[in-house]
Order: sequence, then structure tokens, then C-alpha cells
Amino acid sequence: MTGSSATPEPQPLCESSALAERGLAHVFDVLLWGAPARAFALRFDGRVVAYVNRCAHVPVEMDWQPGRFLDLDRRWIICSMHGAAYEPADGRCVGGPCERGRLMPIAVAEQEGQVSWYPSEQIRPFVFDERPTTESPP
Ligand code: FES
Repeated sequence: MTGSSATPEPQPLCESSALAERGLAHVFDVLLWGAPARAFALRFDGRVVAYVNRCAHVPVEMDWQPGRFLDLDRRWIICSMHGAAYEPADGRCVGGPCERGRLMPIAVAEQEGQVSWYPSEQIRPFVFDERPTTESPP
């Protein structure tokens, strides 16, 4: 995809089988308001949900180990910094210092064994610059 006026296309994320029920999340890179950020997708009650990996209390990444967002009972998304708890189904804060905040959702779809996410105005694909270097060898 080129240019910012193109209609957002689904971005392939991972195979469905990579997301076990209440298991490890798939972590991926996005541009949030033009700046690099991390996001994650996990399966909860059979449905894939995705959010920007950014706590509503302080804008830090929340996983206590890469891809581990759920508490030990696998019921809540927990921020490892100060323990804010979020409802995995909708990202709403349910306890701790996030108060009435919520996680920033990312639209996802699951089709034919493939999970994809959908860019929005705020959240765009992270595109690596693949232009060849123009430097010539000495
Ligand atoms: S930064 Fe997440 S609870 Fe404080």
C-alpha cells in the first residue's frame, strides 16, 4: 500500500492456531499517531481481541514478559507496572489506577485460519523502509 489516502486494507497478523484460548498474545508493531508503538492480539472466550500495548494510567507497555498480558487466573489483562486490570473483551478498566480509562482497541478479523487487523486514522501499519542504500563501496 502506498500513500495515506488509500483505503486501509486488512493487515495479516498471524495464523488462528497461534492464538490459544487465554494464552500468549501475538505482539506486533504499529504506528500510533505516526510514532512507533507496540500492539497485541490475544484470544479470549474464543474471540480474538487486539489493543495498543499502552496502559491508560501511564503510557507504558504492560506485559510482564513478552506476550504475557493476562493475570495468573487468565481472567484480566494486567499492567505489570502498577497492577491496573482491564476487561479483555472490551479493554475497559476494571480496577487499579487506570480508573475510567480503557485500552485503545484495534479492529481484528479472523477468516479461514488467518487473523488480520485493520488500520484506522490513528493506528497505521508500521512500514519498514526497504529502499536500497545509495552508498557505494570504497
Ligand atoms: S502504568 Fe499501568 S498501572 Fe500504572
